[in-house]
Amino acid sequence: MKNLEHFIRELSETAGNTPDCLLQLLCAIQNRYSYIPARAVNLLAERLQIPPVQILSLVDFYSFLHRRARGDFDIRFSDNITDRMFGSVSLFNSLCKKLGVEPGQPRADGRVTVDLTSCTGICDQGPALLINGRVISRLSRARIHTMAGLIEAATPLASWPKQFFRVEDNIQRRDILLNPGVINSSAIEALARRGRDALLDELDDSGLRGRGGAGFRTATKWRLCRDAAADEHYVVCNADEGEPGTFKDRVLLNRYADDVFEGMTLCAGIIGAKQGFLYLRGEYLYLREALEKTLQKRRNSNQLGNTISGQPGFDFDIKIHLGAGAYICGEESALIESLEGKRGIPRNRPPFPVTHGYQNRPTVVNNVETFVAAGRIAVFGADWFRSAGMKTSSGTKLLSISGDCARPGIYEYPYGISIRQVLADCGASNTRAVQLSGAAGATIPAQEFDRKIAFEDLPTGGSFMIFNQQRDLLEMVQNFSQFFSHESCGFCTPCRVGGTLMRDLIEKVMVGHATRYDLQEMRNIGLVMQKTAHCGLGTTAPNPVLDTLEKFPDIYSKHLANRSYEPAFDLNASLEVARCITGRDDEGAYIRHEK
Ligand SMILES: Cc1cc2nc3c(=O)[nH]c(=O)nc-3n(C[C@H](O)[C@H](O)[C@H](O)COP(=O)(O)O)c2cc1C
Ligand code: SF4
Repeated sequence: MKNLEHFIRELSETAGNTPDCLLQLLCAIQNRYSYIPARAVNLLAERLQIPPVQILSLVDFYSFLHRRARGDFDIRFSDNITDRMFGSVSLFNSLCKKLGVEPGQPRADGRVTVDLTSCTGICDQGPALLINGRVISRLSRARIHTMAGLIEAATPLASWPKQFFRVEDNIQRRDILLNPGVINSSAIEALARRGRDALLDELDDSGLRGRGGAGFRTATKWRLCRDAAADEHYVVCNADEGEPGTFKDRVLLNRYADDVFEGMTLCAGIIGAKQGFLYLRGEYLYLREALEKTLQKRRNSNQLGNTISGQPGFDFDIKIHLGAGAYICGEESALIESLEGKRGIPRNRPPFPVTHGYQNRPTVVNNVETFVAAGRIAVFGADWFRSAGMKTSSGTKLLSISGDCARPGIYEYPYGISIRQVLADCGASNTRAVQLSGAAGATIPAQEFDRKIAFEDLPTGGSFMIFNQQRDLLEMVQNFSQFFSHESCGFCTPCRVGGTLMRDLIEKVMVGHATRYDLQEMRNIGLVMQKTAHCGLGTTAPNPVLDTLEKFPDIYSKHLANRSYEPAFDLNASLEVARCITGRDDEGAYIRHEK
């Protein structure tokens, strides 16, 4: 801790001593010390001339920042439903027991913490965990046993078995985007040759729509941003990839980073931006070093920097900005707040980021896959892109496939592919349901497997989780409702309160205390959330509950209590304090349930 002052001085000077960099400074401190010491808060507050409470509010907002030391081994088990399906809960309990730790609490000797975290984006190789920011995939009893031994022996991670940390790209199906023949194509050269107006028209003709979920037309977004008058414009790549079950951006960043940066540079050339940001989720910290190397390589070959590819006035560079464990920061306006060093609370919209984004300047925010596709279109043209897909869903979509199938991984398909075909290709059989587009998406029953993945039918950001007939879908709903109540930023009441009520009601169903009244209550809460929540997280959070109530009523009805009403908490237990105070223990001091 002696060097803390020196460390913070160096850090904040490198960052330019501005509050904008606050989150990045805190991430660096957290990574070094395993927490944010109180003294660090005061030192930072002095240097950045901001109140300490502003810093503490950030520490409390982001799940990966802590006020208490987590020890030499900071472990977080991925808690997505796919991890649970393959035994993560029992592996988690087993490690806690072997190490003698209480879940989420640093051990008495302060050396280790074992905790849970939301989906880490390794669903094809789960169960998985993060340890000091690195991934251990394919967890098994044997791995947990070895890990416990290594931790007790204080073996540094650098000496742990290399295969523990192996994460495969797992690309199972390629189409036009991932075809080896199109890799590292030069969109920047195409820009120099044809000019920005022609390329923007090409992008428009291609019909490319955003791959992050909402499907907004990319050319329209870029044009609106280019036409918004301002002294600066910005490009942001949304690599937050927090939707449970999604991991295709992880693979693009790992294997196709050059293509991602190429697409961002193309966008900068078209809209006139000088600065870009890659917003990298904290769970993907382990990808950062290689990404920085790719950026440096591009600077060395004049694909970034000043006068890019010899084009006068084309100056652009990209910074990597690390997230810190907040799903809401994938929402574009929350992401921009986070980029500015604040808590990720979604902004009021309009105005939209294309006119009022980063630093209130026009900003394009696109998904990782969107940038890759845009770069390819610049080189190969709109017709090439339209040769795949459907009329209003041109091109291909990357799917992240996980759950009950023989070959999980990344699958690239032309839009229009049916759910049934995807299931056949990845070796799924006896499938009960597919959860498409993550926790906020749609639960598709078997009778709808001929529906197509396309904006016209089933739009998706790419998550495709498979559940066979043996799975209890209520466990999936429970996992998602816990996820949403944990990830709500807390800004608006419908989501903050509604999400918690929904989670508690699902738990009430699971323990067999719910009645038909509770199911109706869940529908009512869901509708209020859909209509009144401030952002997309709250409006989509009830989807899995509402969908399964309608399409899989049996998963609820088999748990229902046979009464017309059942309280959500134990009334008798709650009255115990009153009984103690009054000294009563007679019959009248207890509540009787109707039979
Ligand atoms: C709660 C929430 C989380 C989101 N997470 C992501 C994400 O992780 N990655 C992403 O690209 N878009 C995410 N989005 C959508 C973004 O707000 C935005 O629409 C997208 O980045 C735009 O890029 P695109 O047009 O290329 O799809 C999220 C939206 C919401 C409401
Ligand atoms: S809907 Fe939820 S995540 Fe969105 S602003 Fe409201 S509380 Fe925050």
